[in-house]
Amino acid sequence: MRTLLIVHHTPSPNCQALFEAVVSGATTPEIEGVRVVRRAALSATASDVLEADGYLLGTPANLGYMSGALKHFFDQIYYPCLDDTRGRPFGYYVHGGNDVTGAVRAVEAVTTGLGWRRAADPVTVTGEPGKADTEACWELGATVAAGLMPGA
Ligand SMILES: Cc1cc2nc3c(=O)[nH]c(=O)nc-3n(C[C@H](O)[C@H](O)[C@H](O)COP(=O)(O)O)c2cc1C
Repeated sequence: MRTLLIVHHTPSPNCQALFEAVVSGATTPEIEGVRVVRRAALSATASDVLEADGYLLGTPANLGYMSGALKHFFDQIYYPCLDDTRGRPFGYYVHGGNDVTGAVRAVEAVTTGLGWRRAADPVTVTGEPGKADTEACWELGATVAAGLMPGA
């Protein structure tokens, strides 16, 4: 059994809608042999990261950066996980009010530093998510999870 770890900061209903769509995609019954673990960013640990085979990250854009909660997560896990998680696949989504550029740049920078391999295009959404947005998040979850299926 492989493990997909979803680390998210979800402070509002709009972020919750994206999170739920990602979880729904990642746990779709067609994907077998992949256990999905969800952790709020402020509670995720280095052990969670080391024990997983791939990652999905979700954050709002805050002050031109990823949320403080996701930044705190990376601050905690960066060096403890640097050696052992290099090359592992990940994906992410960002929700914002009007401009998620800085948050995207921040997530790209830290995951590049970790040497993680982006397995899907990021999903970025501003304002109230529409059907296309939640579908894109569903695809994101399904794509990263399917990539972890044994034999994939
Ligand atoms: C302190 C603060 C800073 C924010 N900074 C940004 C920002 O830099 N870019 C952006 O697009 N949205 C920004 N937002 C909006 C949040 O991303 C947004 O509130 C969050 O994704 C939740 O979405 P919702 O308010 O539509 O539910 C900020 C919100 C707060 C509270």
